[in-house]
Amino acid sequence: MTAYGAVFRGQVTLDGPSGTGKSSVARAVALELGAAYLDTGAMYRAATVAVLDAGVDLDDAEGITRAVREAAIGIGTDAATERVTVDDVEVTDRIRGTEVTRAVSPVSAVPEVRRLLVDAQRALVADAAAVVVEGRDIGTVVLPDATLKVYLTAAPEARAERRADQLGVTDPARIAAIAADLRRRDTYDSTRADSPLRPAADAVTVDSTHWERHQTVARIVELARERAEA
Ligand code: DC
Repeated sequence: MTAYGAVFRGQVTLDGPSGTGKSSVARAVALELGAAYLDTGAMYRAATVAVLDAGVDLDDAEGITRAVREAAIGIGTDAATERVTVDDVEVTDRIRGTEVTRAVSPVSAVPEVRRLLVDAQRALVADAAAVVVEGRDIGTVVLPDATLKVYLTAAPEARAERRADQLGVTDPARIAAIAADLRRRDTYDSTRADSPLRPAADAVTVDSTHWERHQTVARIVELARERAEA
């Protein structure tokens, strides 16, 4: 029997830096595998909304932890719909805005925030027969026994151009600013003390620099089906 057509059961982790198109790839992989999907970056972004709304200083780790602990973050695991809430208020669009994007790295670097969200992430996927979970530390920390671990990368210039395309930006100076922001976030995420961004020892690295999105999706689906059958 070929790998295609087999029902996938198990966990796929998808980690990597910003701007690789990871979220849309992860969602498409989940839909193709008939799996649930969890965007953990959206959870850190929702936590950041709670911190900003509480008026907490971004240097105040205790205040940040308190604001996140007291907030009710709502997120679904259906790959076909995206709805994120904080204390029952929908923040699906707001979490993608510049205010949240600027503040999310310091919030996600607070160890206690990571402990709270990692526990929530494990609980959200515990009962799923098949799930794709996307983030930075999923293969290394959240789901160390996953069926397939993918580390998705692309050259920084390719990532900046994809992000610019998404935002409808064509001005070279603005594309250069996007590249600088991606590099700043990469450095922050990969040098923080707690759960830095890095590939798990047993991850498969997929470099999407020269690939269309559908090629990246097809490769990961193929890897997942092979792994599930092995
Ligand atoms: O994937 P994203 O850009 O939506 O993630 C937002 C931020 O959250 C990013 O700066 C890194 C952080 N993050 C994290 O620290 N751990 C995760 N598992 C997911 C995201």
